[in-house]
Amino acid sequence: MKIACIGAGYVGGPTMAMVALKCPDIEVVVVDINEERINAWNSDKLPIYEPGLFEVVKEARGRNLFFSTDTKKHIGEADIVFVSVNTPTKSTGIGAGKAADLTYWEGAARLIASVSTSSKIVVEKSTVPVKTAEAIGKVLQRNCATPGVEFEILSNPEFLAEGTAIEDLRHPDRVLIGGADTVSGRKAIETLASVYAHWIPRERILTANLWSAELAKLTANAFLAQRISSINAISALCEATGADVQQVAHAIGTDSRIGPKFLNASVGFGGSCFQKDILNLSYVCESVGLKEVAEYWYQVVSMNDYQKQRFVERIISAMFNTVSKKKIAIYGFAFKKDTGDTRETPAIDVCKGLIRDGAKCSIYDPEVTPEQIFRDLSAPKFEWDRPNYSRSASHMLENVQVAPDATAAAEGAHAICILTEWDAFKAYDYQALYDKMHKPAFIFDGRNILDHAKLRETGFIVYALGKPL
Ligand code: NAD
Ligand code: UGA
Repeated sequence: MKIACIGAGYVGGPTMAMVALKCPDIEVVVVDINEERINAWNSDKLPIYEPGLFEVVKEARGRNLFFSTDTKKHIGEADIVFVSVNTPTKSTGIGAGKAADLTYWEGAARLIASVSTSSKIVVEKSTVPVKTAEAIGKVLQRNCATPGVEFEILSNPEFLAEGTAIEDLRHPDRVLIGGADTVSGRKAIETLASVYAHWIPRERILTANLWSAELAKLTANAFLAQRISSINAISALCEATGADVQQVAHAIGTDSRIGPKFLNASVGFGGSCFQKDILNLSYVCESVGLKEVAEYWYQVVSMNDYQKQRFVERIISAMFNTVSKKKIAIYGFAFKKDTGDTRETPAIDVCKGLIRDGAKCSIYDPEVTPEQIFRDLSAPKFEWDRPNYSRSASHMLENVQVAPDATAAAEGAHAICILTEWDAFKAYDYQALYDKMHKPAFIFDGRNILDHAKLRETGFIVYALGKPL
């Protein structure tokens, strides 16, 4: 059996590496139009930072795992084609700012149709709006010139989280496969299930109809993001009343019906998917006339925007209502720890908010490059996922400095803001950092990872999310 995967990104790369590792009898080729990315996958410096990924790639690469730009050859030869291309939010036209942009997906489908001389199972790995398989089916069938070639479409959404991708792929809570309830549909589901069954217990391989599988992915992300927005909403109330959001979260999380996970109040959720998928879900609801349902889910995104804005306003008001010309050290730019990914990171909005008020941000992140930070702070909203967006806001960059380490960022700063929960930030010598800062020295802990009592003893004025002063 041969598997090809279109898209060598955060999902395609790690997912296929795990399939290859666990299925030595299957040839797995990941293809991408981005040559630089493919070269990096073939090198010792992989294009994404993910704990444990390199070891998995190293073991399978060259054995039965390959990365290539020869899309036509490998898709043409494959029995199963995964499509794991980006599905960003539309930035122009109908549905701009909400609907999923399926340009890349449709491009991939046309490519599959044009090179196929044998029947194939086409697997939706990307997160797509419900009913996408119907549209993709039409593109595939009507663009394939070879008689007798059939395409069976499956939905197999990915639930991995960045930073824990390898562990999530090795021991997933479940694998979901949606397909048509026909003889060929059931056969295709079984073919894909037998791939995963190489390492995943059968009871964890769930099957569903196509639309349920597509919608389950959007729903899972909406529910996860909703928990964060819910606890973040409560964090605002905690700050106003003297309650402590971590105590509240612990108290509710011990109820087995609620559970303890995903209740960390934060400066806001980031990442390439939560916002995009909720906007997409809301848009689908609107398009079928479910205005109230659309508005309900849209609130999760609004609350997230409010949380980021609230964090900026709190910093400014705490620092005597002015941050003009003040240096502010930003610790962490990635959207979460253990990844170098900055897509939709809350740090972008927080830095932009501070800079608009005249602050000078000195940013340090152990895994994010200066080029990436400058690119993010000059990219218009929703444009980061397109290769040729026009840069704007160059004035932003005049007030941005990327520091080589945490000490350099704090040197001469008025405040430190923790925006990513990197473990290393907990172990710093804050007394030494305090000594290098202007006084009064502030810390704004947007992740609640530091020892606030100790920092106060050191002399810092500490503001922590959802906690009493
Ligand atoms: P990504 O941007 O990292 O990777 C997508 C890749 O597809 C890019 O390298 C791009 O060059 C390539 N591509 C686009 N069109 C192509 C074409 N026609 N032929 C060949 N290559 C093409 O995106 P990602 O983070 O891997 O996400 C992919 C999908 O998976 C999205 O729909 C996303 O919502 C979903 N998803 C992402 C995550 C995550 O943690 N990032 C988790 C679950 C699901
Ligand atoms: C999320 C989901 O967890 C995955 O299941 C899903 O596959 C993926 O989206 C996707 O579809 O892309 P990811 O975005 O990689 O994964 O990371 P998460 O751990 O979910 O964190 C998302 C954001 O929420 C981060 O900014 C994180 O800091 C924030 N978060 C998370 C909180 O603020 N509080 C929490 O309690 C948990």
